[in-house]
Amino acid sequence: MANPTKVPFLDLITPHQELEAELLDVVKKALNTAGFIGGPMVENFEKEFAAFCDAKFCVGVNSGTDALRFAFMAAGVKAGEIIITVPHTFIATTEAISQAGAQIAFVDINEQTYTMDPEKLREYLEARCDFDAKTGTLIERRSNQRVVGIVPVHLYGQMADMDPIQEIAAKYNLWVIEDACQAHGAEYFSKKDNVWKRAGSMGLAAAFSFYPGKNLGACGEAGATTTNDAAMAARMKMIRDHGQAKKYYHDIEGYNGRLDSIQAGWLSVKLKHLAKWNESRRSLAHKYHQLFADAKDAVALPIEAAWTKGVYHLYVVRVQDREALQAALAEAGIGTGIHYPIPLHLQKAYSSLNYKAGDFPVTERVAAEIVSLPMFPQMTEVMQLAVVSKAKDFVGAKLTLSR
Ligand SMILES: Cc1ncc(COP(=O)(O)O)c(C=O)c1O
Repeated sequence: MANPTKVPFLDLITPHQELEAELLDVVKKALNTAGFIGGPMVENFEKEFAAFCDAKFCVGVNSGTDALRFAFMAAGVKAGEIIITVPHTFIATTEAISQAGAQIAFVDINEQTYTMDPEKLREYLEARCDFDAKTGTLIERRSNQRVVGIVPVHLYGQMADMDPIQEIAAKYNLWVIEDACQAHGAEYFSKKDNVWKRAGSMGLAAAFSFYPGKNLGACGEAGATTTNDAAMAARMKMIRDHGQAKKYYHDIEGYNGRLDSIQAGWLSVKLKHLAKWNESRRSLAHKYHQLFADAKDAVALPIEAAWTKGVYHLYVVRVQDREALQAALAEAGIGTGIHYPIPLHLQKAYSSLNYKAGDFPVTERVAAEIVSLPMFPQMTEVMQLAVVSKAKDFVGAKLTLSR
């Protein structure tokens, strides 16, 4: 008999119904004041989100993609310079690099964390680049271009290993800009500083997406950058607003990339619930770990390194025949996703970069086996048991209840 419990991949209706009155109040406030662009709702949200991230400044923009692009531009990247990231991420990370005028270089991920492997980063810098200690410039030999920055991606809500990445960056005079688009509230234990740090507080700047499905989602498109650097914040404010600090006085050419007031107001309403929602995601992840414990040979579970408190934007497992697992779950009314099926270095959009299959073996292995299971704060125990039971049926293990 088909499993009667339908489980969406993501429920974006319940949280908004729960907050309906407060969300509608935001719209009324905007209507009554005609405050649609900028103003107190944007400024309040920027202050609140900076505080949430333990960062000094937050600059609200219209998407996570532009948050990245504006951060790269504010960091002063010049045409043709190289920014290093991973091939296992959403294409927005690399679109932002190209659209800021820079070139993309990839290094592989770590097979346990699915985030940038600091050793692969070190290898790339040592084997393929020359560092001039006098001028502090690093040149990639193949392209004869300067390497300027590193973009670790805190994918699925798990932090990249920031201590070694920042140590390598400092050694070669590179900046680090975090892609924290999936990691609102994730934490990293810095052994170097002996303290837990928040995503968005560690690099020269960080980018967040508030796309509706994110841990903190707007009711449309929105994003933000955070930084502890006042000059970066000032430059990003200019870039998002046609290059003006004062109306119609344009110091540079910028973009139309501001955060709408209604989105900012909605984000403030939802931000009050984010810590609680992240905790729910963490306990659902913990429960998934327990329920799948006796099927670990067939279902590889996400590994949360000791130095991270992940916020499980996604709960991603690895299995041998993931398309068949997805089909079996779909038949039972259970939604799944793949984040992401084709590594960026093998995408048609990047054929001109001349990468080939085999260049980033960990990314390629991972991309072939990953499946994202339902994960959202309002998921009930019954729903979760239905997902695990069906997945275990598929891999041939029995459901073990750990209560
Ligand atoms: C890792 C990553 N980077 C960047 C982005 C871009 O964010 P947005 O969709 O808000 O432009 C996303 C969003 O999907 C993302 O997941």
